[in-house]
Amino acid sequence: MTQPPLPMDVPQAKRAANTTTFVDNMRLPVHRWFRYSAGFSAQWAGTVIEESEAKHVLDPFGGSGTTVIAAETVGATGVGVDVHPFVTRIAKAKLAWRADPDVLIKRAHEVRLEAGKAGPVTEPASPLIAKCFPDREALLDLLRVRDAIERLRVGDEYDELLWLALVSIIRACSPAGTAQWQYVLPNKTKSRVAEPLSAFEARVELFAQDMWAMGSRRSAPEGQIMEADARTLEGVPDGWADLIVTSPPYANNFDYADATRLEQSFLGEIVGWGDLKPLRKKLMKSATQHMGGWDPAEALDSPLLEPIRKELLAVFAELAKIRSTKGGKKTYDLMVAGYFLDSAQIWHALRRASAPGVKVCYVVGDSAPYGVHVPVERWLGELALSAGFNEWRFEKVRDRNTKWKNRKHDHPLQEGRLWIEG
Ligand SMILES: C[S@@+](CC[C@H](N)C(=O)[O-])C[C@H]1O[C@@H](n2cnc3c(N)ncnc32)[C@H](O)[C@@H]1O
Repeated sequence: MTQPPLPMDVPQAKRAANTTTFVDNMRLPVHRWFRYSAGFSAQWAGTVIEESEAKHVLDPFGGSGTTVIAAETVGATGVGVDVHPFVTRIAKAKLAWRADPDVLIKRAHEVRLEAGKAGPVTEPASPLIAKCFPDREALLDLLRVRDAIERLRVGDEYDELLWLALVSIIRACSPAGTAQWQYVLPNKTKSRVAEPLSAFEARVELFAQDMWAMGSRRSAPEGQIMEADARTLEGVPDGWADLIVTSPPYANNFDYADATRLEQSFLGEIVGWGDLKPLRKKLMKSATQHMGGWDPAEALDSPLLEPIRKELLAVFAELAKIRSTKGGKKTYDLMVAGYFLDSAQIWHALRRASAPGVKVCYVVGDSAPYGVHVPVERWLGELALSAGFNEWRFEKVRDRNTKWKNRKHDHPLQEGRLWIEG
């Protein structure tokens, strides 16, 4: 069996260019167990951690666990926090890479035998699943694996690894397409569709291969993933972090609640669109779908936004004006106000949870809803200072799309690293 490359094997130049994307992680052991399009580069995170010589690394938007696993591979202790329960479960399952690969293979074999037994299968009620699986036999095979994993569940880490092996093949087994940002596209088809039972087996083999490859790192400090809100960081002790490496949601209307809709619909956790509502209420406000029933006065009157209030009010008014000319649906004005109120709360929570002299690296991009430029990195920098950090600077990594919702605007968008110290 060929060994997968370990972190740091990708050339330096390529590493720098891909800092802000998940692409290279698909070559790396453990990171590649689930493709989370919102993720960033594990090699880059590992380099930042190593160079800073940090012992305690915090990621308040931990997602699929990239920072925490990168910390483990370079000998630091990582804590990742994310409010999305499904994504948190994926990250937790990845942390089980220290388990015994031979046991995993044995358990997967038992699942396959159990899945082969005849018996009734309950199909998910979600119409999305019927649409995405026109081949009912393929769907039934996947569901039999789902049920076998549940019937054989004993409450240990192998249950979670088997669950992840299943969850990570659902898209590959459907002909439905996936948009760049992981939204499922039931009306677009892809050319290669995997066969469920062999895909499950191949997935478990890949996991086992990575677990063997990572064997020499078993004694590294163990990271932790918590399901919690970055605005409070409940569970992270005061003054704990000496390095923060993270990428928050951007103010770009991406709805994280929707990112794993196919997988959650398959598992029966959600049925229709409305079931995403409770999660949307918990997420940091970064999409118009998160704004239902929210009163912007909470932000516009908040003392937390004092450092940027004048500029924010001008952007808010302009967005509200454009909205009124367009039928009123896209509440970008509310989204921007909510985004910065949440961000201000997050800086205060991070200040509490970090040690004096902490280094922060925030991978972030700016935004231009309706073509109105929002200087995200500068406003975030100013809010960080007001929460008690000492200095900030922005290092651009790349230019981004200059179009926003098909409206061209003059200010080129950028993505990069906001470095903060304090
Ligand atoms: C850009 S992604 C981070 C991805 C991560 N760097 C990785 O490599 O997987 C942002 C994450 O923030 C999470 N998030 C949104 N609102 C949050 C909140 N209030 N508290 C904590 N996490 C939140 C989303 O669920 C999403 O996983």
